[in-house]
Amino acid sequence: MTKFFISCALPYANGPCHLGHLRSTYIPADIFARFNRMNGNDVLLVCATDEHGTPIAVKADNEGKKPIEIATRYHRRIIKDLEMCDISIDNFSRTTSKTHYKIAQNFFLDLYSKNLIYEKKIKQLYCDYCSKFLPDRYVEGICRFCNSPGARGDQCEVCGRHLDVEDLLEPKCLACGKTPVIKESKHYFFRLSKFQGKVENYVYGNPNLGDNVRNYLKNWLKDGLKDWILSRDMDWGIPIPLKGSQGKIIYVWVEALIGYISSATEWSKKTGISWREYWDDTVLHFIGKDIIYHHGIFWPAMLEGYGCKNPDNIIAGEYLSLEGRKMSTSQGWVIWVKDFVENFDSDLLRYYLTVTAPLNKDMDFSWDDFKRRVNDELADVLGNFLHRTFTFTNKFFDGKVPKLFNLTEEDKKFKSLIENLPYEVADSISNFKFRDGLVNILKIAKEGNKYFDHQKPWKSVKDDYEKASNCLYLSNQLSKVLAINLKPYLPNKSIKILDILNLEDTNDWNNSKIFLEVGHDIKEAKPLFRKIEDEKINKEKEKLYNFEKKSQNNEKLKENNIMDIISIDDFVKLDLRIGKVLEAGKIKGSEKLLKLKIDIKEKEMQVVAGLGLKYSPEQLINRKVTVLVNLKPANLFGVKSEGMVLATADSTEIIKPDGSKIGEKVM
Ligand code: MSP
Ligand code: ZN
Repeated sequence: MTKFFISCALPYANGPCHLGHLRSTYIPADIFARFNRMNGNDVLLVCATDEHGTPIAVKADNEGKKPIEIATRYHRRIIKDLEMCDISIDNFSRTTSKTHYKIAQNFFLDLYSKNLIYEKKIKQLYCDYCSKFLPDRYVEGICRFCNSPGARGDQCEVCGRHLDVEDLLEPKCLACGKTPVIKESKHYFFRLSKFQGKVENYVYGNPNLGDNVRNYLKNWLKDGLKDWILSRDMDWGIPIPLKGSQGKIIYVWVEALIGYISSATEWSKKTGISWREYWDDTVLHFIGKDIIYHHGIFWPAMLEGYGCKNPDNIIAGEYLSLEGRKMSTSQGWVIWVKDFVENFDSDLLRYYLTVTAPLNKDMDFSWDDFKRRVNDELADVLGNFLHRTFTFTNKFFDGKVPKLFNLTEEDKKFKSLIENLPYEVADSISNFKFRDGLVNILKIAKEGNKYFDHQKPWKSVKDDYEKASNCLYLSNQLSKVLAINLKPYLPNKSIKILDILNLEDTNDWNNSKIFLEVGHDIKEAKPLFRKIEDEKINKEKEKLYNFEKKSQNNEKLKENNIMDIISIDDFVKLDLRIGKVLEAGKIKGSEKLLKLKIDIKEKEMQVVAGLGLKYSPEQLINRKVTVLVNLKPANLFGVKSEGMVLATADSTEIIKPDGSKIGEKVM
């Protein structure tokens, strides 16, 4: 028996769960945990909400709330999201718990007492205007390594590198848009550089690590590890437990990782069972690919310093995109778990997010493809096989598993497929090849349908009773194997199938290797997988694409045959001019909106434009644009806007009047 300490990445408590979280992290962890519980292994699955960090503080600022209020709101919400998808977490904690504060601070002190943490004065960006140091996400600039704009204070999202003050070119304070100054402040550093060799041993010497994990880590290691700053000048976080460090907190990533241990400790307090026994046996971290660095480099070094065993494996799921585009919560390009499972069975989601691509490959969620897989695979293949098996057994064999007579070659072949399935699926899940296991299950169900078609029991029951009897004997056996082997993947459907089979849910994988006895009573067939109607999918697509307004327009277009006809008098009401952007800057509280000063020759005007997700302010300065100049002024985020810059609706591509003169009228 193995004792597994399994963690899934702690979701930030600054928003609900979306499908991406489930895909890379929570569903895989749950499949693995459920499978192992079924195999007599002892599993401790822990998680918590990650409640510190700047995004939560910023969100609180924007809403005029305290950070803890935001964190509590999403802590509750995330628990529900994960429950709705049957993620079987044994202890779900929060990083604002007392236990966690204590454990994180003790961890810090332990490393400090071993001289693995040292103090150093460093240069930091300080905004005179806001009178504060600008940690992490309060500042944006250009990444020194890859030249990408929009890099944050601690990390460039394009090349993924960690950035120091000097690595951020042309920094801007995100709160006020002003250029911050460099000031000195005392901080705490972890001697990460000392652990280069140890971490290399870990990364290269651990054969369990997946290729995707090792490849990412290789890239970081080859640059050489630098000491890591562990503190921030901020209120929202866990105070550094040392004298003379007022106003300094432990960097959120340091304590978040320790959150795994805190959650387990909390569990131990509740149950009286020591989590160390689990840790000392096998530790697995389920995460998404964007946080491999933290788990594969920082964490092993921290654990090494603390004197705790390193994780046996890190399973990193690659990214989920949505309808071919990168997900973006700020742009609303996202599907929230709650919205999904209010309309569709969560098992369908678990199925789709597992079967569509292997965990170590990126995957796209598409509504059409979701419908296709549910209809063609779950309904037509799996559902159909089970349904016809149960219906026939009831109709022709009095609802009892019929006798097995002499086996034909075809029967034998089918029987061995059934017998092998539990071993094959177990092998896949044990090796974190969750998709392979599920694909195999579907493949055998498909074989079941073929076999059934071939045996034609509806006909043979009249002229070749033994043939029909063998067919239904074996088909019921496969149904049982499917029911049990589907349990880690589709826990609800599994129980429903078992119920029709008149079997208790023993939660025992090996039970799928035991055949039903002849004469075993089964219940009436019930529909297990319904097809999804086009209409339902279209509704979801509309919601996502926010097609409401456009479709109203489309109705009009249809009425007018081609388009919505206006007269020339309507058109000349629009005063369109060519202008040049003189100044551009961000607007506090909005990623999308930019404040522009535009020269239209006659005058200079101020326009708030929704171009911020596509263009950085720098990219717009000196650029020619087409402006609607006689628009009634409006106030957006407290900033006056006197016109509108023309750009395309979906791709926000600015309409380019490059060859024309400033002030020219557009007709
Ligand atoms: N709080 C950190 C993790 C700290 S672990 C000590 C974090 N939180 S998160 O809410 O942003 O992400 C939670 C999990 O979801 C992470 O494993 C992350 O990699 C994963 N994903 C977030 N967005 C995702 C996609 N679009 N696609 C796949 N996985 C995604 O990271
Ligand atoms: Zn500022």
